[in-house]
Amino acid sequence: MSAPSRYDADPARLRELVAELPGVERIAAAAGETSAYLVGGAVRDLLLGRERTDLDVVVEGDAAALAADLGGEMVAHDRFATARVTLDGVEFDLATARAESYPRPGALPEVRPASLAEDLARRDFSINAMAIPIDSEPELIDPHGGRDDLEAGLLRVLHEQSFADDPTRALRAARYAARFGLRLEPETEALARRADLSTVSEDRVEAELMRLASEPRARQGFELLAAWGLVERPGEDGSLIETVSGLLDEPPWAGTVDRALAIHAAATGHAPGAAGRVHDLLGGARELAAAEPGRPSEAVRLARGRGGVELLLARALGAEWADRYMAEWRHARLEITGDDLIEAGVPEGPAVGRGLDEALGRKLDGEIAGREEELRVALDAAGA
Ligand code: CTP
Repeated sequence: MSAPSRYDADPARLRELVAELPGVERIAAAAGETSAYLVGGAVRDLLLGRERTDLDVVVEGDAAALAADLGGEMVAHDRFATARVTLDGVEFDLATARAESYPRPGALPEVRPASLAEDLARRDFSINAMAIPIDSEPELIDPHGGRDDLEAGLLRVLHEQSFADDPTRALRAARYAARFGLRLEPETEALARRADLSTVSEDRVEAELMRLASEPRARQGFELLAAWGLVERPGEDGSLIETVSGLLDEPPWAGTVDRALAIHAAATGHAPGAAGRVHDLLGGARELAAAEPGRPSEAVRLARGRGGVELLLARALGAEWADRYMAEWRHARLEITGDDLIEAGVPEGPAVGRGLDEALGRKLDGEIAGREEELRVALDAAGA
């Protein structure tokens, strides 16, 4: 990544950059006496010259009222005066400037209205703690040295309690470090390594891991988390993430499963959520990869009932047969149905399934073709 130049924070250049953002002018007009600022990732990405489809705006005043005045499509309010408005195709998250205090490590913060300065001071990293006024002359408000850190390629927390207050920030650190090619400033890294994820719910942890899994450079992020001792490696190195990702770019895997779910599973061994965690997807995939089925019917019996992510992991671990299963074998159908067997005298029940299964297997293996042969094999296997 090339470092952003100082030029990007030049007031004239900032004015241009802000003027080019869709929707901002409308917010400036509607804000009236209320001070409104572009903040957080929106400012960071503006300096980096990266486009985004959502912009965060903080107002020193009533964000919900401003959102209502904007007449855009307003979606939600949460417990503290934030609203999402879509203007000119861009999503704006409007929030009232706030200060936060954490009643205990990892707890959700208590919030109160505050100044912009306090709002910036509550944030995770210096590169996310910058603002640009949008209702007055644009200038970079950067009390924590975010622009210098961006230029130096450093990720830095604003205070030493940051990861104790919100340990999910350590996961965010890996995401930003991977995405922007940043190094953690040494004190920040020492603090991240000590982050105690057990003080937050597993769901919040998983939500952050899924955000990391959605990043193009997810591998680097997960490797950092493993190096910091925050996420256990399930015995595979980061190359599994790369292989899974590559497979998803091409047929027959492209579009079969959600990419972030697959990357998450490659990195952690399981799906997110309480139900996901109890199922050892990677263990199942290793079994499949070791199986070496001799014929299509065996492959189908192995693969049946396994989810797409588990099969993809198996393929990434060496089960090349899973390609043909995905492309062809899983679509194989018989010309006969269970009703044909019942009509021919097979009692309803497991015998019907046994018969159909045998016929499908023989068809997959190329041993039979056509309705007549299917029926003969199925009736035979059903014991009719
Ligand atoms: N933030 C924080 N601590 C967190 C989560 C968010 O301080 N645990 C702040 C950061 O200032 C961040 C802003 O809230 O910039 C918005 O959060 P989010 O939307 O998660 O991040 P973005 O900066 O918009 O980054 P991304 O590009 O990943 O969306």
